Amino acid sequence: MAFISDDLYNDICMANDIVDYASSFMSLKKSGKSYMACCPFHNEKTPSFHIDRDKQLFHCFGCGASGNFVQFVMRMEGLDYRDAIRFLADRAGITIPENGIRQSTKLTQRKDAIYEMNKIAARFFFDTLMDPEKGRMGRKYFNERKLSRKTIIKFGLGYASDSYDALLKHLKSKGYNESQIVDAGLAVTRRNNTVDKFRNRVMFPIINVRGKVIGFGGRVLGSNTAPDGFKLAKYLNTPETPVFDKGSNLFALNLAKNSNASDLILCEGYMDVITVHQAGIDNVVATLGTAITDPQAKLMLRYGREILICYDMDEAGTKAALRAIDIISGAGGRSRVIRIKGAKDPDEFITKYGVAGFKKAIELAVPSTEFRLSLIKGKYDLNDTDGKIRFVDEAAQILSTIDNPVEVEAYIKKTASDTGISEQSVFGKYTELRSKNRRRSSIRTREAFKRREVSKINREKLPEERVTDTVIEAEKRLLSIMSQSKRLCLKANRIMKPEEYSNKVYAALARRMAEYAERGEQPDASVILNEFSGVPEDENTAAAVFFNTEVYANTDKTLFDLIYTIKQNKLDAMINASEDPGEIAELIDEKNHLTKERLDWNRDEKETDGDAL
Ligand code: GTP
Ligand code: MN
Repeated sequence: MAFISDDLYNDICMANDIVDYASSFMSLKKSGKSYMACCPFHNEKTPSFHIDRDKQLFHCFGCGASGNFVQFVMRMEGLDYRDAIRFLADRAGITIPENGIRQSTKLTQRKDAIYEMNKIAARFFFDTLMDPEKGRMGRKYFNERKLSRKTIIKFGLGYASDSYDALLKHLKSKGYNESQIVDAGLAVTRRNNTVDKFRNRVMFPIINVRGKVIGFGGRVLGSNTAPDGFKLAKYLNTPETPVFDKGSNLFALNLAKNSNASDLILCEGYMDVITVHQAGIDNVVATLGTAITDPQAKLMLRYGREILICYDMDEAGTKAALRAIDIISGAGGRSRVIRIKGAKDPDEFITKYGVAGFKKAIELAVPSTEFRLSLIKGKYDLNDTDGKIRFVDEAAQILSTIDNPVEVEAYIKKTASDTGISEQSVFGKYTELRSKNRRRSSIRTREAFKRREVSKINREKLPEERVTDTVIEAEKRLLSIMSQSKRLCLKANRIMKPEEYSNKVYAALARRMAEYAERGEQPDASVILNEFSGVPEDENTAAAVFFNTEVYANTDKTLFDLIYTIKQNKLDAMINASEDPGEIAELIDEKNHLTKERLDWNRDEKETDGDAL
């Protein structure tokens, strides 16, 4: 009996990223397409632990530990399969239907039906397009747009004839009823009358990375303004359905994901993607008629090393490009901007300058920072002193948001040489703004600390048999950090009380270390260890805490990560142990709250990370 449907499983996996997750508690080094670190499952000094981002797998060449993302979470968090899935779902803000199998089967059946109807519809639109009679208008349109038959087949393009019920009738003949067809977004009901949603439009099926048709875009033939001035929407898209979420899918990613290119090109329109693809450049995708979202950026970064933004060069397109730069960098990725001079969009550009012209434009794509700087440069007269000063101010503002010191230095040099103002002065302006930014974000972090300290989970100890190795290991590391720093000791003690530790030795250690820290002293290991003399087992347990000399890059962050790991694991154990539905609901609530806090913390951390120059 499956716990969740394949669909939901896939959704949950797609919404998470193993690298993203792993980097919240270990320090990863990028090397080619994989990421390396010291293995969390055995002791080592040189990294032999690899993460493959494309495949979302981990493998340690040292100890042989390996598996998929879910298995990684199981081991790291000490969770069983179900809870690892739940953990990942929580992390992505996806709700797993509570009362289990029945409901989730219902939803699965509903989704399966929609996938099936979409597939039938795509086939139907394609057949209509190819029909000598019925498809004439559609073929004429694609012909004018210079799309080859091969391209039409590759993208599965189609035509919805000018009829109110052609698709409805077809789907009904395959056994679907009206309400199901409406549920799939393929028909609409108005004043008790159900009609086809797409009429007299060329059809662009939207296919996810697993090859399933999740929805459609339908374009009017020619201009969207009728002779009488009546305006139709140029594109109609499938509305949100259980399988179609505009904000988390991309047009043509099903094709682009197989490209050999290492980057991914992002266009605005379906037609842009298709023309570029037809020109032999296959690493190209588009959003689904909306501005790019964070999940879409993450999804793209899974398949492309860098994102090359290829938007229209008008004001709207430029604004959208700036927004895309911001979202992509927020998702931890890098982007460049392809400038398509002399044409309104990539489609027109290729028609005018050919494939060679477009390839050249790709080569000349400018790094996002350069793009941002060149935009503001256009606003000022750099021959004028006042213009120079204002340009430097604004440039420094942009640079102060960048974390990579090498990049910052390069652009400080460039800004200096562009204006003739000395590098020192530009750098001075930059550091001034940089420290302002940092002050602002450190206030944010402090507030985050406060919020966090509200959620103390003070509950009685778990029964011993429920304490997992993960919890023990995390508690041990936490105590080690506490033994190394008075400040962190006090901090940890405020959030996790001695009585919350899972065994009496750890509880005693936490209590004793806090006493030292409160007096402003470093804990004296040999004195503390005396307390456990006589019971060899306890002695070993306690000594191991002090012998752990791992050094942590960011101990504040590690501290919080460990505490959250402990608390989350305990909550899970309590959820499993409880038989009172009310209490379970409360615990789940608490856990969701905790997960959210942890994610907020990671985000705040990212924002304050990185001390440039
Ligand atoms: P052509 O105009 O045929 O070249 O199409 P295009 O794909 O280049 O479209 P355009 O650049 O005008 O718009 C970019 C994207 O925005 C389109 O691919 C659609 O996804 C979306 N879009 C454009 N117009 C509309 C509209 O009227 N409604 C909706 N929902 N989306 C639209
Ligand atoms: Mn266009």
